[in-house]
Amino acid sequence: MTWRLTSSSTRRCPHVLPDDVTRRQQRYLRHLITQKSAAVPNYEPDLKFPFNVRVAVMFWNMLFLKDTLPDASVGSTTDWNRGRYLANALGRCAECHTPRGAFGQMNGAKALQGSTLGRVEPPDIMPAELVARGWTSADLQTFFATGISRQGPAFGEMHQVAMLSTQYLSPGDLRALSTYMHRRCAASTHAGATGFRRCHASGGRAGKLCCRVCGVSWTRGGGQTSRGGIDARAFDAASQGDPHNLIVAMLDGVDAPEFAGTESIQAMPGFAATLSDDELANLANYLRSGWGG
Ligand code: HEC
Repeated sequence: MTWRLTSSSTRRCPHVLPDDVTRRQQRYLRHLITQKSAAVPNYEPDLKFPFNVRVAVMFWNMLFLKDTLPDASVGSTTDWNRGRYLANALGRCAECHTPRGAFGQMNGAKALQGSTLGRVEPPDIMPAELVARGWTSADLQTFFATGISRQGPAFGEMHQVAMLSTQYLSPGDLRALSTYMHRRCAASTHAGATGFRRCHASGGRAGKLCCRVCGVSWTRGGGQTSRGGIDARAFDAASQGDPHNLIVAMLDGVDAPEFAGTESIQAMPGFAATLSDDELANLANYLRSGWGG
């Protein structure tokens, strides 16, 4: 099924699907209905009151279903418009990356500025923040296309986003999405090599472990890139304003999940059982001041 979008329809309403796309979706769903269904019994919805009252959704929609989220960046080129459409109408990036109010509505004043979701928190992905943390447009394209970049692997829910969705974007769409999510800017130098060298030289239990935490346990002779391809100086969780994801990575470790193409990493063990709270806090401070900028 091919989705062709006119630039006028994407410009008119960036957060909802244009009519021609929804019509095609309907046709596709009708086509599915004609197929023989799998022999799986339906299950009763288990939402509790008042969430099981469907009509309440109408009121919620009236109050909060508005196409008013501000754009992540400013632009007018075809690529930018296409990227805006991909991020908002199809990728639904804001649904996870925007904090919510008391009624579950997205907080438009803080669009894409990071939220709480589950064990792993979607960080702030406003272009200025991504640039400040060292992401280039090429990094973003690699991240969306493969699920891993020099900043580290996509994990938590973002791994599914990359594996089920963004890895299938065409090169043109990858470029468009990254154009929208990345204000053009020279590559950041905020994460210098000094932190890496200090890490290796620092010795001590937490000092040795920190190199593994950042994916550099496999490097030899002062190299800065792990065998898995992650640049320790760019490791993103260390430079996020909120240390939540860094601490979760240290506690739980990082799996070696599937990535698109030939990308792979070695799993990193969790240190919940080996490091005390104080050691974890010291380590997080050390990593954030050494590499996080
Ligand atoms: C289902 C929830 C969900 C959706 C939808 C989602 N993300 Fe994420 N995203 C996350 C989580 C959780 C993380 C943190 C884990 C990680 O860094 O991989 C994350 C991380 C990221 C990162 C890495 C940021 C960093 O500093 O490490 C980028 C870039 C990103 N998302 C961009 C996007 C874009 C663009 C979209 C829309 C196409 C999107 N996300 C949609 C949950 C989501």
